Amino acid sequence: MIYEALKPFLFALDAERVHEEASGLLRWAVPVPGARALLGALSGPGPARARPVEAFGLRFPNPIGLAAGFDKDGRLASVLPALGFGFVEIGSVTLDPQPGNPRPRLFRLPGERGLLNRMGFNSAGAREVARILAASPRPRVPLGINLGLNKGVAASEAPARYARTFRILQRHGDYFVVNVSSPNTPGLRSLQGPQDLVAILGAVREADTTRKPLLVKLSPDLDAADLEATVRAAAPLVHGFIVSNTTVSRDGLDARWKAEAGGVSGAPLKARALTLLKTMRALTDKPLVAAGGIETVADALERLRAGATLLQLYTGLVYGGPGAVKRMLRGLEA
Ligand code: FNR
Repeated sequence: MIYEALKPFLFALDAERVHEEASGLLRWAVPVPGARALLGALSGPGPARARPVEAFGLRFPNPIGLAAGFDKDGRLASVLPALGFGFVEIGSVTLDPQPGNPRPRLFRLPGERGLLNRMGFNSAGAREVARILAASPRPRVPLGINLGLNKGVAASEAPARYARTFRILQRHGDYFVVNVSSPNTPGLRSLQGPQDLVAILGAVREADTTRKPLLVKLSPDLDAADLEATVRAAAPLVHGFIVSNTTVSRDGLDARWKAEAGGVSGAPLKARALTLLKTMRALTDKPLVAAGGIETVADALERLRAGATLLQLYTGLVYGGPGAVKRMLRGLEA
């Protein structure tokens, strides 16, 4: 309710600036005793019953998680579960620190309930993220760490760099994600090809001394033949797939957005992400994490029925506010 009243003011400001201000407020709660309980109370009542899910050897208190990109450096990982999330995925984290693309690089599509971003992996870098996580309270839900790749790295160096990034972070995460599907790092999505992907996943598995679950996050823009080859090659090396990242498609969007580079999320991605989920369900028995335009209880149920084990959202939080996850969880028990 309060969020609905605030939204016109927030939406009149630059989208990344609002994200930074909101993150700053949440960060304040990290070291303050009792602040997480207060945040929990402010974000509304939780569901009456837990709805636990077991997947890849981990126990999730509920199936709705935060998608990568909201908390790039893991500064908020310990407080975000107070909003109701059953798991939190941080990142993408790159091996070396990098600033990402010039601003503006995040836009709202309010008529379409979508976002367009070309952040370009702004990251504090793996060593700094490891330091931040070591200095923060451990989140009380499973923590995923999403691994990205610095800009300008040759495909031949990608396996070693993903493996090094993983090694630096491995003891801090409960599961890991190889992200080869962000549209904002030139050349990244071509690493979804079977040969490159197998080399990357193999290198990460080899670096893994702790046997952490490993997932790969896919683009919704892969064509059917490429997707099948990718899934067949990757499946033996991973515990599951995340479907999906943002889309480069501008189908159905205003002409203005055709001229802006970046990936689209939220409602305009919904149909495409659902189709990919259904295709994936037919291709593999591995657990699937659904993302892309999940905003309502009906959206959540539709993905679970289509075979998703877990769900993630980002854009739905921007449009629905801090109470969005608990509203969905209460709706799931109805
Ligand atoms: C993202 N997303 C993303 N994904 C990823 O794997 N690594 C990343 O660094 C980012 N960064 C990022 C930034 C911003 C501003 C947005 C909006 C999104 C993609 C995100 O995790 C998710 O896959 C898509 O946004 C689809 O889900 P929603 O937003 O429709 O719920």
